[in-house]
Amino acid sequence: MVARLTPDQKVACSIHEILILMDAAKGLEVPGETLEAEAKAFFDSAPPLQNSDGITQQLDQFIQRNSSPSTRRIVCVTSGGTTAPLEQRCVRYVDNFSSGHRGATSTEYFLKAGYAVIFLYRKRSFQPFCRSLPDDPLLECFKPTDESNIQVCEAYSEAVKRAVVDHHNAVAGGLLLKLPFNTIFEYLQMLQIIAMSMRCIGPRAMFYLAAAVSDYYVPWKEMVEHKIQSGSHLLDVKLIQVPKMLSMLRKDWAPLAFCISFKLETDSNILLNKAGAALEKYKMDAVVANELSSRKEQVVVVTSAEKVTVQRDKNRSDNVENPLIKLLSEKHAIYIEHSGRCV
Ligand code: PMT
Repeated sequence: MVARLTPDQKVACSIHEILILMDAAKGLEVPGETLEAEAKAFFDSAPPLQNSDGITQQLDQFIQRNSSPSTRRIVCVTSGGTTAPLEQRCVRYVDNFSSGHRGATSTEYFLKAGYAVIFLYRKRSFQPFCRSLPDDPLLECFKPTDESNIQVCEAYSEAVKRAVVDHHNAVAGGLLLKLPFNTIFEYLQMLQIIAMSMRCIGPRAMFYLAAAVSDYYVPWKEMVEHKIQSGSHLLDVKLIQVPKMLSMLRKDWAPLAFCISFKLETDSNILLNKAGAALEKYKMDAVVANELSSRKEQVVVVTSAEKVTVQRDKNRSDNVENPLIKLLSEKHAIYIEHSGRCV
């Protein structure tokens, strides 16, 4: 981890003082030019995204299809955790906690609410329409009838049919585009391409950033090529801070879009203050605050005007994402109407 210190701060001499200064540095506002320089350094040093032309083409077709002549809203849902590799030929990496449940479930409710969805997800994380299936659907939902045939087990036949039909309808109907990532490099490059592609629909674009994004990474050029050898008691790897791209998204990539970020904490006492600070600092339209252990039961939507607690309806064995997406979709509609009046 590298913290920037001013010359005055550099006189610190004890470990304790250095730790305090690093904490202080975390809270410092990064000036616009510095952030842009950091973002540029991040992208310049990242390994080139494979098939970026193909991805751009897919996005252009998807957005074109859903924007003219229709006035459909389009949301980019990010889901799952990014990895920060420690080796170029990666065996080991630092991971971020996220099952992808929030993003996958929210995608279903966005589709129900009439949105077209770009689902930017971590490979092998939870997928839309698979909530009612067991952990290993292929092996648990099917059984052999003889040497060469298989059939769906009775207990899962309805769930499998619903998942396959709903998924097929969304993808084949041109309403769901799925783009997978693994690393922080892939995630941020793809988020940038998506945001630039969505600029043309202005306020009808929404970003719903539920992915758990790495805060620290090893720059590609400073990363060892081969597997780090064991044998030393100390693994000495220098991780530097990933630039907070929320500012870039808001300011440069998609300035007219409706932007929702998430704030995850394990200490509920600091959650709402942190969410409020993120709202202001990154100029988000809303921040969804969630605490790790209760995240499936309730979240708080923090905006400049209010804090709304959204809870799962236990009587209807519902998901918290159902009322959450309803609320955000209403707020987005008001935002579009207001933007229209301002133009
Ligand atoms: O997937 P589940 O198991 O269902 O869990 C869902 C969830 C808890 C992961 C989800 O609801 C959630 O809170 N996601 C955001 C987790 C996170 O990364 O929080 P953060 O406080 O580290 O980051 C806050 C925001 O900054 C995020 O919206 C993130 O997209 C953004 N960020 C973070 C780091 C970084 N370098 N750049 C960013 O832009």
